[in-house]
Amino acid sequence: MLHDKNKVFIFDTTLRDGEQVPGCQLDTLEKIKIAKALELLGVDVIEAGFPISSPGDFQSVVELSKAVTNPIICALTRANKGDIDAAAEALKYAKHPRIHTGIGASDMHIKYKFNSTREQILERAVEAVKYAKKFVEDIEFYAEDAGRADNIFLAQMIEAVIAAGATVVNIPDTNGYCLPDEYGKKILFLKENVKNIDNAIISVHCHNDLGLATANSMAGLINGARQVECTINGIGERAGNTSLEEVAMILKTHHHLNLHTNINSKQLTDISTMVSRMMRMPVQPNKAIVGKNAFAHSSGIHQDGFLKHRENYEIINPEDVGLNHADIILTARSGRHALKHHLERLGYEIEKIDLDDTYEKFLVMADELKEISDDDLLSLMSDGDKNSFKNGYKLNLLHVVCGDKESPTAHIKLQHDGKEIDATAIGNGPVDATINAISSIINKPIELKEFSIQAMHGGSNDTSKVNMTVNYLDKIYTGYGYSTDIVKASANAYLDALNKFL
Ligand code: KIV
Ligand code: ZN
Repeated sequence: MLHDKNKVFIFDTTLRDGEQVPGCQLDTLEKIKIAKALELLGVDVIEAGFPISSPGDFQSVVELSKAVTNPIICALTRANKGDIDAAAEALKYAKHPRIHTGIGASDMHIKYKFNSTREQILERAVEAVKYAKKFVEDIEFYAEDAGRADNIFLAQMIEAVIAAGATVVNIPDTNGYCLPDEYGKKILFLKENVKNIDNAIISVHCHNDLGLATANSMAGLINGARQVECTINGIGERAGNTSLEEVAMILKTHHHLNLHTNINSKQLTDISTMVSRMMRMPVQPNKAIVGKNAFAHSSGIHQDGFLKHRENYEIINPEDVGLNHADIILTARSGRHALKHHLERLGYEIEKIDLDDTYEKFLVMADELKEISDDDLLSLMSDGDKNSFKNGYKLNLLHVVCGDKESPTAHIKLQHDGKEIDATAIGNGPVDATINAISSIINKPIELKEFSIQAMHGGSNDTSKVNMTVNYLDKIYTGYGYSTDIVKASANAYLDALNKFL
C-alpha cells in the first residue's frame, strides 16, 4: 500500500464510541452537524455508528454517508454476517465506505465472552474479513482487548486477517490497561513479527481508564502505527477515549517526531464547544487544549513570566487552536449577519431559529456585557430556543419564595402541547422546590443523579450554567440550562433532560 509514511490518519469515533456514553445520544440531524464539522476539521475517517444496534444508528450511517464527501465513512460490526450485511447496506451511499469488523483477542475475552478457543476465534476473524470484503474494499479489523492479549497469538491473528484482505488493523486497548511502554512494544512487536504488516495500516484505539489513552496512542504512533482512533473532548465509554485535540496538538508541537496530520487545528475549540453542547457533556476546566483554563495563567509568578515572554509559560499559541476569534467580535453594534455567523459556528440550525427575536435578546445582553463570548451566546440560546423545547415541556413561569424565615416554595407553569399546566411544591431549598413542582406535573419515576452549577465569568451578576443527569427506567439522560438566575437555569436543565424521553 502506497501512502506518505509520515502521515497519521485521524479516525474519529465521537459518533460511535463517544456516543455510547449514557446520556450523550444524538439525533441524526445533530450527528450530521458534527460530521460536517469533523470534515471541516480535516479528519480522515468518521466512524458513523453501529448499524445493527438500532434503526436510529442504521439511519444515521445512511444519512452521514450522504452528507459527507471527503472522509471515509466507517460502520462498526461484530464478526458475523448479520452485522456485516447491515453495515454494507447502511454504507451504500458512502463515497468512501469502510467496514470495521472484529472479535476478542485476549484469552479473557475468548474464554469468558465467547466461550471459545483461539483456533475458533481465528477462523471467525478470517471469515468475517472475507465476508465484509465482498461488499467493500476497505476493511478494518479490530482485535478487541488486544491490550491484554498474548502478543504471539495477536500477531498470528493480525497476519491472518491481513491475508484475508484487511486494509487496517486496529489494536485496541479496550480496557485502558496498558502502560505506554508496554503498548508501544506491542505495536513494535507486530511491526517486526507479522510478515505481511506492510500491507495494512496499524491503528491505535486506546481507552482512558488509567488516564493513559493519549500517552499510549502516542507510544503506538512512535512505534509504527499510522492511524489513531480518538474522539472530540476525549469522550467515550467509562473514562473515555484518546482525545483528538491532544494527539493533533502533540504532533503539531513535537516536530521532531516528523509525523503530521490533516487536522486544521484552528477548528478545535469550536468543535469541542459544539460536541459538548450537543451531548450535554461539560468539558472539565483543566482539560488539555480545550478546557476553559487551558490557557489561563493565574499565579503571579506565571503571569509575570508570561508577560515578559509568552513562551515562558505557553507551548501552544491559543490562536492555533482557534481561541481568540479576532475575526468578528460580537458587541451591541454587531448586525444580524455577525450573530448568524457565530450561531452557525456553534452548530445551531439557523433555519429553526427566530433570528429577529434572538437578535433583540442579543442586543439587550450586549448592552449589558459589552462583548459577547461563546458562553454568553450559549446562555442566550438556552432560554426557549433549544430544540428540546420544540415538542417538549417549556417553562412559562417560575415564582419562588425562599429565605431564612420561609419554607422554600416554587410555583411554576409549564407549557406543553398548546396547554399550560401549573403546580406548586415545597422543598429543602428553592431548586429542590422547583424540581419537585416540575416532577409533580410530569409524574414519572425520574431520579435526579447529578447536578452541577458553574459560574461562567465571576461576579454576583454572573450567568450560571447548570448540568443535570437523570435516570429514567434505567437509562441516563443529561440536560443543561443557562441563566443569571440559578433556579431558572436548574429548571431549564431539568426540563432539557426530561424532554429527551418525554
Ligand atoms: O474499545 C474497543 O475495543 C472498541 C472496538 C469495538 C474497536 O471500541
Ligand atoms: Zn473503544
